[in-house]
Amino acid sequence: MHQYLCLLLLCGVVHGLNNGLARTPPMGFLSWERFRCNLDCKNDPENCVSEHLYKSIADVMVAEGYRDLGYEYVNIDDCWPAKERDAEGRLQGDPDRFPSGMKNLSQYMHSKGLKLGIYEDFGKETCAGYPGSEFFLRTDANTFADWEIDLLKFDGCNSDPKDMDVGYPLMEFFLNQTGRPILFSCSWPAYVVGTLKQVPDYQAIKENCNIWRNYKDIQDSWDSVLDIINYYGKNEGNFSEVAAPGGFNDPDELIVGDFGLSYYQQKAQFGMWAMMASPLFISADLRNIKPEFKAILQNKRVIAINQDPLGAQATRLYQAGAIQVWRKPLAVNGTFAVAVLNTDNQGMPTKVTLTPAQIGVPNPNGINITETYDNVHVGAFKPGQSFTLSVNPTGIFLATVVPLS
Ligand code: GLA
Repeated sequence: MHQYLCLLLLCGVVHGLNNGLARTPPMGFLSWERFRCNLDCKNDPENCVSEHLYKSIADVMVAEGYRDLGYEYVNIDDCWPAKERDAEGRLQGDPDRFPSGMKNLSQYMHSKGLKLGIYEDFGKETCAGYPGSEFFLRTDANTFADWEIDLLKFDGCNSDPKDMDVGYPLMEFFLNQTGRPILFSCSWPAYVVGTLKQVPDYQAIKENCNIWRNYKDIQDSWDSVLDIINYYGKNEGNFSEVAAPGGFNDPDELIVGDFGLSYYQQKAQFGMWAMMASPLFISADLRNIKPEFKAILQNKRVIAINQDPLGAQATRLYQAGAIQVWRKPLAVNGTFAVAVLNTDNQGMPTKVTLTPAQIGVPNPNGINITETYDNVHVGAFKPGQSFTLSVNPTGIFLATVVPLS
């Protein structure tokens, strides 16, 4: 690490991240949660980590309207490279699974109006044991720019997380030096939280990363989704405050359309990810998705909450038993998105009675509440006037709240 430190000092790398990217949370597809490190192209050619997987998903993203809703990044995760670097020390795609090469794949995406993201790791090896970027940061940044890559997810397995305060800024420096705008997705705070058990320096992270993972990997279950939501609710280190155009917290992928969540749980995850100004990276087989799940991912009003230009992240106002109330300021002055999350799993909807003050919008002239998924006007209410909602078990009520003048 010493040579990195010297380089940093020599170069005077004290800069804010100013690559113009992620003005709103990035949207797209990321293969990890659903397709993992499936190498079995012989027996499972449709689902193994290969150029065919990313191209076929991209085709569906274009044909079925995802791209036009803003889902533009097609992100490769771990297990894409050959096990060895080439003679010049450069990474190369696995020749059997990416026979056309990585540049060909990015050009395919660009020809379809999409972008290509790739995965690497700050340590010696990636989490799945492929060559890592340690000692190759500059080479790899240049390789990714040569390949016309648009996003880099930079993981932190097999490294010393204490080096990350230097190493992640250095990688961002090398990416910037290429001149190609590459959205930088960092796992840095996830290792500070998970391994070092410390509160990350979110200001430093925001200066160097466009999005950053800060908690555990999502798995295909409601327990996992709720665990992440509760971590964001605790908001240790006040990380919600740093979310803004250019930089967003990343609670990990969407598992809408997969196996583990009910219909209402899928609406809850998507709604909460919209509230949390999270990247919307779908990790589902979009080639085979039920229409009702696709409709969740394609709900324009929910996407608009996520993509609101203010870029503010919702915070949890309070919890009462199984009920949580979250509020996200929106760009139009005085308006908010509000979510009422019912974490109870008993078999009937819960009646929740609230006032405008309790959802954090005590406008003297009252408020208009409109439910978001189905665009239903709930009503107009004065500050002290209560209204009653029915929220499904492990479900969400999501609404926009507009002050009345
Ligand atoms: C880590 C990351 C995951 C995924 C895997 C790949 O666990 O947090 O999102 O990238 O590595 O091995």
